[in-house]
Amino acid sequence: DMAKKGGYKHFMLKEIHEQPEVVKNTLMEYSEIEKVVQNFSDFKRVCFVACGTSYHASLVGKYLFETLLGIPTDVILSSEFIFSEPSLDSDTLVIFISQSGETADTLKALKVANKKSETLVIVNVLGSTATREANHVIYSRAGPEIGVAATKTYVSQLVCIYLLVIALSDDKKLLEEIKKVPDRMKSAIEDEEHIIEIAKKYKDATDFFFIGRGFSYPTALEGSLKLKEITYIHGEGYAAGELKHGPLALIDDDVPVLAVVPPGQSHDKTLGNIEEVKARGASVIAVGSSEDTVLRSEAHDFIGFEADITEMISPIPYVVPLQLLSYHISVERGIDPDKPKNLAKCVTVE
Ligand code: G6P
Repeated sequence: DMAKKGGYKHFMLKEIHEQPEVVKNTLMEYSEIEKVVQNFSDFKRVCFVACGTSYHASLVGKYLFETLLGIPTDVILSSEFIFSEPSLDSDTLVIFISQSGETADTLKALKVANKKSETLVIVNVLGSTATREANHVIYSRAGPEIGVAATKTYVSQLVCIYLLVIALSDDKKLLEEIKKVPDRMKSAIEDEEHIIEIAKKYKDATDFFFIGRGFSYPTALEGSLKLKEITYIHGEGYAAGELKHGPLALIDDDVPVLAVVPPGQSHDKTLGNIEEVKARGASVIAVGSSEDTVLRSEAHDFIGFEADITEMISPIPYVVPLQLLSYHISVERGIDPDKPKNLAKCVTVE
């Protein structure tokens, strides 16, 4: 068992550490993805369908398709898809994201979509059912993932979506930017001791908020899902601007707030939300640029990335410290992060 874990204590930790390599491998799929794109018919609308972590990757996809291609994009949970299906037509490209390619809700939605629209799946498991059903297939090539909570497959799904948008828009600048990501992820992993300290400080919290705007909103949701899955602490991911419409009533000095604040369009507004939660007693863990002295001084705990990671590219590296934080809180609480209770790696029932 220890040999399979490559010397790591858990598969999840091994898989988190593999992520810089995974991003490099998935980047090599670019020419494959360019070929897939050539076979698309014209489309005027995109609809992503997925569940769990794959749903969060889809949300990043929405912001990319809308900002870089100006294509209206919806993101629908697989189990909710049948309620949206009537609006599908032949001008819609429906993109399914699934690590396993076997999730029952997603396969059901794929069957329905195939009748009306062109379908693409982004999938990690070769030869899985989804790959046989869809019109087009992109493999995320993260390698087998054993830990129940998705980590490396999430970043590989993200890279596939970025490459897809790059292939459709010919945005070579973004392609150059992604190439920096593996190194920035490595630095985040090398900072693990710092994350362990933060984990020890917050391990007894009963509630946690994760906030972000725009490209950082899916990162907040994913950080919160990781926390729920493997630490059994109640976590809520929230669009930072929505805090005032409810959650502020729950914030006090027992509720840590993790804020995802890369440099860019969302920065100043999220900084304002940090001030709001601090005024109600919350401790703030901020993730942002190392050069962001204002953010650093506002936060009780600070996790820094190099300043050249833009908001648009931040979802790929910024998720790493959030995964590590949940992993270490899980271990501190005496839980086996590889096998969380009541959860399965692949859910084959609707
Ligand atoms: C389960 C897993 C999650 C995963 C979700 C969707 O809930 O525990 O980690 O994100 O299924 O799985 P899929 O294989 O379709 O991506």
